[in-house]
Amino acid sequence: MSNKTLMIIKPDAVKRQDMGYILSRIKAAGFKVRRLEMKRLSVDKAKDFYKVHAERPFYDSLVSFMSSGPVVVGWLERENAVNSWRQLIGATNPAEAAVGTIRKDIAESLEANSVHGSDSDENAEIELNFFFEDRPH
Ligand code: CMP
Repeated sequence: MSNKTLMIIKPDAVKRQDMGYILSRIKAAGFKVRRLEMKRLSVDKAKDFYKVHAERPFYDSLVSFMSSGPVVVGWLERENAVNSWRQLIGATNPAEAAVGTIRKDIAESLEANSVHGSDSDENAEIELNFFFEDRPH
């Protein structure tokens, strides 16, 4: 079980200035923030990041949303990081997210769901390398 994961604060949450709220939830859950960076994804970078969804009907809209404004990307560490972060953010669709999760508390919609988390240790490795190419291993 790996101890690291990638998180993204998505454009809807950055637009509402919810970064501090999300970072306080991250601290309260015992994560250590190893890297944190605000950036604007180009359409090509957003396409590349979500290429696994390229055939899905929501792909074009997702790419457009993710490149519509700044995001904050972070490298989080704690024991069982992938599952712990996914539990804290809740279900992809905020309407189905458990009470007390970040998406239940602040997300707007299935697309504008405020935060992203890697879904496996293997993908965490891929996604951390995608944003933090120079990170030490
Ligand atoms: P995320 O966890 O970043 O992974 C893929 C994203 O696609 C997801 O969060 C949502 O923001 C977005 N999305 C939009 N529509 C759907 C859908 N029908 N199913 C899954 N994800 C969707």
